[in-house]
Amino acid sequence: MKKIAIGSDHGGFALKEFLRQRLEGEGWRLEDFGCATPDPVEYPDIAFALARAVAARPEEYEVGVLCCGTGIGVSIAANKVKGIRAALCADCFSARMAREHNNANVITLGGRTTGPELAWEMVKAFLGARYQGGVHAPRVKALTDV
Ligand code: RB5
Repeated sequence: MKKIAIGSDHGGFALKEFLRQRLEGEGWRLEDFGCATPDPVEYPDIAFALARAVAARPEEYEVGVLCCGTGIGVSIAANKVKGIRAALCADCFSARMAREHNNANVITLGGRTTGPELAWEMVKAFLGARYQGGVHAPRVKALTDV
């Protein structure tokens, strides 16, 4: 069974911990890339480490989940890693589309902008969706080839 890579900075720490518990409760195996406390850390460090792992070993990771204050910083950082398609989501439709159309392999969320229950619904929508391929394939290929 594949595992979920999860990580946050201090701004997303509480949300990351909440989602970690929910995911574990659903039987998912997790790899936690930190942070381990609410003390300030540099979000690019966490996002790069998680993104590099997910991009390098897709057979090992179902997806990545990254949280920071807004979800923006970890999204920008993760998307600099080749092979990563990180989607900053604020609603369940976008979370589903991110996988169905964009083949996103990381969802990013804002711990200071998104309530935990909505975030959990988005993570479930993301995990439950499948990439549709077809007309989306050349577009996703273009993203990967850049
Ligand atoms: C940290 O204060 C905050 O800047 C960070 O969590 C994130 O929101 C950056 O995009």
